[in-house]
Amino acid sequence: MSTADKLDRLRQMREQAREGGGARRLDQQHARGKLSARERLTLLLDDDSFTELDAFVTHRASDFGLDEERYLGDGVITGFGRIDGRPVYVYSQDFTVFGGSLSEAHAEKICKVMDLAVENGLPIIGLSDSGGARIQEGVVSLGGYADIFLRNTLASGVVPQISLVMGPCAGGAVYSPAITDFVLMVDSTSYMFVTGPNVVKTVTHEEIDFEGLGGARVHNETSGVAHFMAAGEPQALELARTLVGYLPPNNVDLAPRREDWSDPAIGGDELDVLVPDSPKQSYDMHSVIGGIVDADSFTEVHALFARNIICGLGRIEGRTVGIVAQQPEVLAGVLDIDASDKAARFVRTCDCFNIPILTLVDVPGFLPGVEQEHRGIIRHGAKLLYAYCEATVPKVTVITRKAYGGAYDVMSSKHVRGDMNFAWPTAEIAVMGVEGAVNIIFREQIASAEDAAAERARLVAEYEERFANPYVAAARGYVDEVILPSETRARVVGALAMLENKRQSVPAKKHGNIPL
Ligand code: HXC
Repeated sequence: MSTADKLDRLRQMREQAREGGGARRLDQQHARGKLSARERLTLLLDDDSFTELDAFVTHRASDFGLDEERYLGDGVITGFGRIDGRPVYVYSQDFTVFGGSLSEAHAEKICKVMDLAVENGLPIIGLSDSGGARIQEGVVSLGGYADIFLRNTLASGVVPQISLVMGPCAGGAVYSPAITDFVLMVDSTSYMFVTGPNVVKTVTHEEIDFEGLGGARVHNETSGVAHFMAAGEPQALELARTLVGYLPPNNVDLAPRREDWSDPAIGGDELDVLVPDSPKQSYDMHSVIGGIVDADSFTEVHALFARNIICGLGRIEGRTVGIVAQQPEVLAGVLDIDASDKAARFVRTCDCFNIPILTLVDVPGFLPGVEQEHRGIIRHGAKLLYAYCEATVPKVTVITRKAYGGAYDVMSSKHVRGDMNFAWPTAEIAVMGVEGAVNIIFREQIASAEDAAAERARLVAEYEERFANPYVAAARGYVDEVILPSETRARVVGALAMLENKRQSVPAKKHGNIPL
């Protein structure tokens, strides 16, 4: 064979690898409203930045006629590329080859890029679109999944792991995305479940379709399995690029600083008039966030799940911060099981990737109720407390209004190593709300008064004056400074600058035992 022929051979093989499962199956993929594995990588990565690895890998199975059917790449495209100039490792499952199902060789390719990502301290982004374990390969395929799960776990807290679910992700396969830091799903074309509608029908006699059982909306709103829901694949891929922009490449480095930041979209004077006179009225905590972070820099995580707490990534003077904030507009911002889980996970995500945490507090307490107690609000609330106690990144707290009871302690209080704790003049830091407190401690006094209502009103006013303010806490140093709402951005900027070189440790241990 001449040199020219040898070069041609390589060109042909590359072309063959690019074809995946062939034109017919590619058309079917498009007809399902989905992009191909390669088209997705083109949108995810900077132009011409992708380098493919293992394009000529094929499966080694021969049972069930598989020896007659081999595709170069074996159903997954792996390699590295760049997002906004920063390197990332990627894999993208190709549904046109055996339904993107995972064979031994397919798993080895994924494991290779995961290992490279960890060795080189770079994020790994997985795009899944797969019918699960390659049925013809049996237990070998299951072993391949386990190899991936192990790597997901070992990489956790070392390099960012982002999962985009862009088609089916079923059976045990779901546990790979589930271990990663962020899960993105696409509305109407992606689904995740441990057992599908047919098995569910057989076992529990419940009738439900794919979307209803494990579609993007279900996992974003109800189960909390997914952190983001995109309207379409291009949006999901753009979101992944945005997300990478907030994150450091690994647990040792810092997130990149953006130079092109601008002042907050909401002016400080708007914050001065935000909190209503009545504690029973709500306001939108997004306005407070918008008054602190750089304009257009906030991306909410888990936006549709446990909406009584807001978690998200933003920037302050170009630097990434994680924001945890009660949302008084939803369930009065109460801490319930889902809100505790959501925020605990987010606090730990920030902590392992050196992202400072800004906590905005307006919390009436933990949600009372038989259902919450029986489902373990104690266990779940403890996760959030534990996460805040354990976090050693800079922690800045602003109490905008209520900080009642145990929830005051939990929400990055000074007592759990909050570094800089501010309160607005509207803050009420107390064991419980005024009405409740007066009803308990002055019950007899009110009952025996000639005019019970008047006595009650007098006691409420007296209690409010004495305790429902930030000054008792400030007198103890539990609040570092009481500030005007309009001063918040400036104070937070100053605090973060002062905390930039913070070094704090926890006692040496194998690992803690967070109550799961
Ligand atoms: C081998 C598979 C496959 C699989 C799909 N295909 N899943 N091949 N192993 N797991 C092939 C099909 O034969 C078909 O090949 C092509 O992929 C497209 O599949 P369709 O069924 O035509 O597509 P669609 O109608 O869109 O349905 C997609 C699907 C369905 C819902 C994913 O294919 C399906 O139910 N597949 C099986 C899912 C499953 O039970 N997997 C095992 C789960 S258990 P042709 O040649 O016609 O194009 C599991 C354990 C993991 O994964 C354990 C980890 C611990």
